[in-house]
Amino acid sequence: MTKTNVKPAEGKLGIMVVGNGAVATTFMTGVLMARKGLTKPVGSMTQYDKIRVGKGEDKKYLKYADIVPLASLDDIVFGCWDVYPQNAYQSAMYAEVLKEKDIEPVRDELEAIKPLPAAFDKNYAKRLDGDNVKPCQTRWEMVEALREDIRRFKAEKGCSRIVVLWAASTEIYVPVDEKVHYHLADLEAAMKADDREHVAPSMCYAYAALVEGAPFIMGAPNTTVDIPAMWELAEKTRMPIAGKDFKTGQTLVKSGFAPIIGTRCLGLSGWFSTNILGNRDGLVLDEPANFRTKEVSKLSTLETILKPDVQPDLYAHGNDEDTQYFHKVRINYYPPRNDNKEGWDNIDIFGWMGYPMQIKINFLCRDSILAAPLCLDLCLLIDLAVRAGRYGTQRFLSFFLKSPMHDYTVGEEAVNHLYQQYTMLKNAIREMGGYEADEEID
Ligand SMILES: NC(=O)c1ccc[n+]([C@@H]2O[C@H](COP(=O)([O-])OP(=O)(O)OC[C@H]3O[C@@H](n4cnc5c(N)ncnc54)[C@H](O)[C@@H]3O)[C@@H](O)[C@H]2O)c1
Repeated sequence: MTKTNVKPAEGKLGIMVVGNGAVATTFMTGVLMARKGLTKPVGSMTQYDKIRVGKGEDKKYLKYADIVPLASLDDIVFGCWDVYPQNAYQSAMYAEVLKEKDIEPVRDELEAIKPLPAAFDKNYAKRLDGDNVKPCQTRWEMVEALREDIRRFKAEKGCSRIVVLWAASTEIYVPVDEKVHYHLADLEAAMKADDREHVAPSMCYAYAALVEGAPFIMGAPNTTVDIPAMWELAEKTRMPIAGKDFKTGQTLVKSGFAPIIGTRCLGLSGWFSTNILGNRDGLVLDEPANFRTKEVSKLSTLETILKPDVQPDLYAHGNDEDTQYFHKVRINYYPPRNDNKEGWDNIDIFGWMGYPMQIKINFLCRDSILAAPLCLDLCLLIDLAVRAGRYGTQRFLSFFLKSPMHDYTVGEEAVNHLYQQYTMLKNAIREMGGYEADEEID
């Protein structure tokens, strides 16, 4: 390893997951199984990817942990919160993502992961009715109870660092409101005034984490940390934040495929994406107000890759006003499929002299199997960011996210292009490892 200013990953890393559902338990089970040598962490960039450092004769390809000090899987301790009281073993069995044979060997460890009562408001996820909920009267009481949870967990488990990861349900859509969400003082006042319309429970988790010196990752499309007041808090507490929405299946394909159309200067008149999904996430997303949050997140991807204003001949035709291609995203709750989501993309493109063509993509994926390695990578990399002294929005983590955070108040754009995101990721690792950033193609 070259000289790096990053603090070493000493001691235990507590990963406190909000939500103990399909994604969370698949993540935890995989980590526990991998460190016993009983499975391989396939899909995890921090465990497999090799980045080139140096150039010419000095170039080498190294794993992330050989470039920067990453926490080891052996040092991870899990905790969680959930609305339902079942422990992680029961919840993993309920989710039916993994076979029993892949859960049993770590049963004892999973049983010991018992969800702390959730900071929950049924108005934010009407389809959930668990009773493992904190008896808080106000949003501010939620913040205080969550802070206490984090402190106690850290002390009881002897952790040197904590990361808080949201892998809980998608909340209803909370549009950004300048009066409440732009300044930290206003957000705090709203929490104290128990403004339930503008302060989602997820904001209480994020606030509590940052104030307790723990970075926060938003894996759902919730607005939560994607507001200027939280950016201010992240600066004040010098904590990194990342979000939003794990980029797992359809959007991963979209952000990798759209550059093919853009690079070849083909036209696009429409992109229709639909999904069937039968797990609890699908159930929650069946509620229109919750789906709206997901829709906003899923729609944002194409617009920064195929831009109508930059290439009007190619991308400014298709919808009623003829200003942009059609882009529709649908998710349908269909119980027989459980976690095995099926996604269809129909892409209407056009070529030379405007002649139309179609591309169809049918992705039969497993949602939580795709999400689990992202959870691991995001947790390990945000913990690295803390030790590297980085704070605020971590744009280098955009690679893992469907709707990457960016400063929209100054007109900044998100980077959605998968290969640009990968360059950002590699360069951040290089720089933290004391190497020079570069954009050479490997
Ligand atoms: N799997 C994927 O591919 C993928 C991709 C992107 C985003 N996501 C998001 O990840 C999240 C988790 O997905 P999942 O399939 O595990 O869903 P899930 O329904 O199995 O698990 C979510 C859990 O969160 C709990 N919960 C809800 N509100 C809570 C609160 N306020 N505090 C504590 N717990 C709370 C629920 O009780 C539930 O057990 C969803 O928001 C989903 O949209 C998943």
